[in-house]
Amino acid sequence: PPSSRVTLTVNGTRRTVTVDNRTSLLDLLREDFGLTGSKKGCNAGACGACTVLVDGRRVNSCLTLAVRLEGTDVTTIEGLDKGGRLHPLQQAFIEEDAFQCGYCTPGQIMSGVGCIQEGHTGSPEEIREWMSGNICRCGCYTKIVRAVEQTAG
Ligand code: FES
Repeated sequence: PPSSRVTLTVNGTRRTVTVDNRTSLLDLLREDFGLTGSKKGCNAGACGACTVLVDGRRVNSCLTLAVRLEGTDVTTIEGLDKGGRLHPLQQAFIEEDAFQCGYCTPGQIMSGVGCIQEGHTGSPEEIREWMSGNICRCGCYTKIVRAVEQTAG
């Protein structure tokens, strides 16, 4: 199958890989780079478990082709902490007890970080709206919204 060489930065490290043109960013992260924090829930853009930041913007990595990411800067849940210190939103998720099974949590946190950076945190309703692409089957929405709200300040 056709393949391409791509150079991108993942969590601060520049990487060059040859990928099958059909490879999703999610599979590249999980299978090639061993970064399994981003989860494969639906693999079809419906659940948000695979959310990462590309150049600071939220994307569903299952719907993003790796070959289109030449020169981009990708941040996953593994790249959020700074020198072993959790990102404030990670800390808030722990403090607010904002998960049960945890499967959606990396995507929720990446989406929450994006939501804060985009400034969509004016009210709990606004946070709910802008994080509506992230599904939690355990129903932890109230606590997730509270964690994002608390972190946004
Ligand atoms: Fe990508 Fe569900 S795995 S949106």
